[in-house]
Amino acid sequence: MMWILCLALCGLLTGTRADPGAVLRLGMDIMNHEVQSAMEESHILEKMAAEAGKKQPGMKPIKGITNLKVKDVQLPAITLNFVPGVGIFQCVSTGMTITGKSFMGGNMEIIVVLNITATNRLLQDEDTGLPMFKSEGCEVILVNVKTNLPSNMLPKMVKKFLDSTLHKVLPGLMCPAIDAVLVYVNRKWTNLNDAMPVGQMGTVKYVLMSTPTTTASYIQVDFSPVVQQQKGKAIPLAGDGEALEFPKGYAEGSSQLLLSATLLTAELTLLQKSLDVKVQNMTVGKLPPQTTKTLAAFIPKVAKAYPKPKHLVTHIRINKPPKVTMKTGKSLLQLHSTLEMFAARRRGKPPVSLFLLEVHFNLKIQYSVHENRLQMVTSLDRLLSLSRESSSIGNFNEKELTGFITDYLREAYIPVINDVLQVGLPLPDFLAMNYNLAELHIVENGLVLDLKLE
Ligand SMILES: *[C@@H]1O[C@H](CO)[C@@H](O)[C@H](O)[C@H]1NC(C)=O
Ligand SMILES: *[C@@H]1O[C@H](CO)[C@@H](O)[C@H](O)[C@H]1NC(C)=O
Repeated sequence: MMWILCLALCGLLTGTRADPGAVLRLGMDIMNHEVQSAMEESHILEKMAAEAGKKQPGMKPIKGITNLKVKDVQLPAITLNFVPGVGIFQCVSTGMTITGKSFMGGNMEIIVVLNITATNRLLQDEDTGLPMFKSEGCEVILVNVKTNLPSNMLPKMVKKFLDSTLHKVLPGLMCPAIDAVLVYVNRKWTNLNDAMPVGQMGTVKYVLMSTPTTTASYIQVDFSPVVQQQKGKAIPLAGDGEALEFPKGYAEGSSQLLLSATLLTAELTLLQKSLDVKVQNMTVGKLPPQTTKTLAAFIPKVAKAYPKPKHLVTHIRINKPPKVTMKTGKSLLQLHSTLEMFAARRRGKPPVSLFLLEVHFNLKIQYSVHENRLQMVTSLDRLLSLSRESSSIGNFNEKELTGFITDYLREAYIPVINDVLQVGLPLPDFLAMNYNLAELHIVENGLVLDLKLE
């Protein structure tokens, strides 16, 4: 029995192990910016100074020196380096002045310059599933020590002071600063777990696929986004196993977000119902009047059936989930629809169906980012096929309608789609990222947002 269970489960596991729907690469540009701003937000410098001013429990009295105080903690300079497979090596260089009174009554001053180093290991928080940095192996390295003590007191006393005191006290004083900054960096991931709305139709949530990985030049976060209908099931990200890869050649240190065509397909599937429209306007854009008379120019039989012109009513329904495809430089939205044309009747009476066509067409998508959402604007790329499913006016050659339908899609339908798409698609909300400056590139099976800082 057990092995059957295992077969089923293992099959399930391998079955669900898909390519990521989105991939984020964080280069040093963003990490530097984030740690720097976390440093500022955490007011860590002020806290360190306040802490340093307090009497330190480990600071043993030193023979001959009284009234020991730490002051003037300097603005720290932070240096970060990626540690492949681990996370980020962080070095905080700062300095401070230690004052006291020497036994001869003179003021003593020791100016120390020091480096605090630690490795910030990148993990995935077990409770929240969010990325998380955790510091390890914090050390304080004295870079430089200067003192105003008389030179005869010098080497021995200072050495003793440094060894017994600074090396013991400073880590306790400085290392919490590293942790405090990380709390702020970690906090900036919390919104990533929020389900973000795609119009009224549903939500998308950028869920981590696995623990983020670190290479020599970036941190990579793989997402398996959850696209959820408002009232209903999640829409699976059904890729055809196309490779999703970053193109080569991005500048060292830069950051990118790669969204798969599969993810965009699932998000647009959420909007599928909103893409169904009914147009009953007499005048639409630059089209000739929407009447049976206009239609008769393409299908003479219409004139026989409707000697007196009637208004046309058109229903377009998307009858298969929309599909987004991407080839370097070009992205298409593939739509399968039914287009039914009706002749309107007098008030109160339902319109009469003239014919129903299956129409398969591609729209070209142009992408941009506005207010941190991915925006799409479409235009007609090509009408791919037109086939007649039913007709109340007898047989006719539907190919005669190609020009008419093409113009119709362009003038009447695509503006409606573009209106629907204005809801925009949410982008992963992490580290307070501003996507508005991103440069967009369409690559094989995906869209790259080359992230820029202000
Ligand atoms: C202290 O840190 C700075 C900046 O990272 C580095 O250039 C310097 O070599 C470090 N000094 C020591 C003694 O580790
Ligand atoms: C039809 O008319 C309505 C009301 O004037 C307008 O809002 C809508 O945009 C028109 N539709 C098309 C496809 O022109």
